[in-house]
Amino acid sequence: MSEKMWGGRFTKTTDEMINDFQASIDFDKRMYHEDIAGSIAHARMLAKCGIISKDDAEKIEKGLKDILGQIERGEFTFDVALEDIHMNIEKRLTDAIGDAGARLHTARSRNDQVALDTHMYVRREVVAVERLIVDMMNALVEVAEKNQDAIMPGYTHLQRAQPILFAHHMLAYFAMMTRDFERFAGVYSRADIMPLGAGALAGTTFPIDRAFVADELNFGRIYHNSLDAVSDRDYIMEFLSAASMLMVHLSRLAEETILWCSREFSFVELDDAHCTGSSMMPQKKNPDVSELVRGKTGRVIGHLMAMFTTVKGLPLAYNKDLQEDKEGIFDAIDTVKFSLAVYARILRGMKVKKDVMKRAVDEDFSNATDLADYLAKKGMPFRKAHAVSGSAVHYCIEHHKWLEDLSLDEFKALSPMFDEDIFEAIRPETCVKNRNSLGGTSYTQVAAQIKAARDIIAADTKTADEQEAKQIKIEA
Ligand code: ARG
Repeated sequence: MSEKMWGGRFTKTTDEMINDFQASIDFDKRMYHEDIAGSIAHARMLAKCGIISKDDAEKIEKGLKDILGQIERGEFTFDVALEDIHMNIEKRLTDAIGDAGARLHTARSRNDQVALDTHMYVRREVVAVERLIVDMMNALVEVAEKNQDAIMPGYTHLQRAQPILFAHHMLAYFAMMTRDFERFAGVYSRADIMPLGAGALAGTTFPIDRAFVADELNFGRIYHNSLDAVSDRDYIMEFLSAASMLMVHLSRLAEETILWCSREFSFVELDDAHCTGSSMMPQKKNPDVSELVRGKTGRVIGHLMAMFTTVKGLPLAYNKDLQEDKEGIFDAIDTVKFSLAVYARILRGMKVKKDVMKRAVDEDFSNATDLADYLAKKGMPFRKAHAVSGSAVHYCIEHHKWLEDLSLDEFKALSPMFDEDIFEAIRPETCVKNRNSLGGTSYTQVAAQIKAARDIIAADTKTADEQEAKQIKIEA
């Protein structure tokens, strides 16, 4: 007989290489806390339903808490022969308390057990990610608020387009983070469904109480189809999808930071403590962090693709392919958390060079739309005003001038509708101030965005607090 916990029908022990290939303990050990919390809830339920004795349940609970202590003190040696976290803990428990431990797995399969652990783990990590998103939101608002008067060119096609507030640009990223938060809150609600009690696939012959377990572990809902309970990995794919989207946002911000701190733009200066040098070129100060965030985005998207591909051809219910859900999501969790934390720090340390940004507006034609708008407001059809402004730009290029350098006579030669007030109308500050449509870049609109942002931060913090209050914390 094999020594495996499932060894009864086997006549040989598992080939060592085969075992190494199929074992997951190296990575699933990070779910030890969830595994123990889930087992304690399961044992309490078994006792409550009269399936095991109260005495056995108490022994199990105490034994599991001892194991928790051992793991947290680093005294627990994980054994690859025991394949995964579930059997490592169960074996150690049974070694310690005997038959009571051997009763723990009544009415349970590793299929619903691993599903339970992963749901709880994801549910916990979603909250951690949400907290970091909120901190990132705070960093964006801080930077926006600190530089409220900084004017920069807004771009389309990476060509200077219209003057905008730098704060407006930062708040566009805030808006993305708002949606990221919503997406993760959605992941939370789909991870907050309790799978235990599905057994291997079909339910169990024991008179279990799944609602009791859900209640013990603060789950909002219970899976109502046992096949679905053990084979659902939607919440994993959703996490990876939300994580990919978030990384895409960070990556765009990273890309802009990289451009902005180049000599060509010089819009920002990163903190020396946040950059690295070159081993050969003494003058270099490189924005490695931004590049890495941009780079790591690819790997998170890769995990999403991997998981979609893994699941797409799987028959119901459990297949070992599903064990592949873990390394990807664990790595995505680590990557997203680290990237968010690091990037909030980059933003807070970033010096905004308002004078350089302003010069990029002054020495260009990004006020040409305002010139056209000026004429349109005086009654000229916009298409015609657009053409006049276009000729004004053309005239300036020929004569090496900017629009604000033209004399009133030169303006009048382009159209008699120009008056003295044109000079005020095309000042960058005026261009910004006048874009006061809802969601525009005006000082008023940006101030309103900052105010609304604070409300969103407060609401999101409350959501995360409520979710955090539901997390299960077992004391060793
Ligand atoms: N380590 C496995 C996993 O992560 C646990 C479930 C194993 N179940 C099974 N029937 N082999 O998916």
